[in-house]
Formats: sequence, structure tokens, C-alpha cells
Amino acid sequence: MFTKVFSTLFVIAATTAVVSAGGRLTLCTDVNMTGHCETISYLNNECINLGSALANEVSSVDPEGDGHKCYLFVNAACQGDHFDFTKHHDDIGVYEDRANSFYCNNAN
Ligand SMILES: *[C@@H]1O[C@H](CO)[C@@H](O)[C@H](O)[C@H]1NC(C)=O
Repeated sequence: MFTKVFSTLFVIAATTAVVSAGGRLTLCTDVNMTGHCETISYLNNECINLGSALANEVSSVDPEGDGHKCYLFVNAACQGDHFDFTKHHDDIGVYEDRANSFYCNNAN
């Protein structure tokens, strides 16, 4: 009886840990989270290349929830110069319309 309860709880905890090893990032083509926006699910430290609707177009970013560390790169495959952020930015400044890939982690 107790063994079964504990093993069930363990399975739930393990599943939750896997599901939460990542997060969601919204990217928009215009400042202030306007224009074309996409919300992309990521796994921690997984490099994601932006699709054609966002590549070289991103102007604002909004990680969902807390604890994100994100790196938005000017080249594909998370190469080159990068804009580093942990929270919502209505305007990514000199990186506007230059991003082609990102990775994030929310492990901290
Ligand atoms: C973005 O939001 C700021 C603060 O609300 C505002 O001052 C600015 O005019 C907005 N920019 C655009 C392009 O909508």
C-alpha cells in the first residue's frame, strides 16, 4: 500500500521534472510585443533556429514565467553575437531585426 503510493508519487515527480526542463519564449517582429508574434517552447539549452517569419525580424521578446536565461544570436545555430536577457524586453535595441536563433534555460 505505502510502497504503491510512494512509487506513484515518484513517477509524478519525475514526469513533472522532465516536463518543466524548459519553458516558452514569445518573440515578436515589432517593438512592444506587436507585429507577428510566435510563442516557442524550448528545452533547456536547446538551440532553436528561428523560422522565416521571425528570422532577422525580432524586435521584442517575452519569456513566460520566471527564471529564464536566454541568449538570442545574430547567426543561425546559436553562433555569433548575442543579446542576453532574463525577462520581457519591449525593444531589444541594436539587436533589432538581427536575430536568427536562440537558446534558453530556466533551470535556475
Ligand atoms: C512602446 O511602448 C512605449 C511605452 O509604453 C511607448 O512609449 C512607445 O511609443 C511604444 N512604441 C511603439 C512603436 O508603439
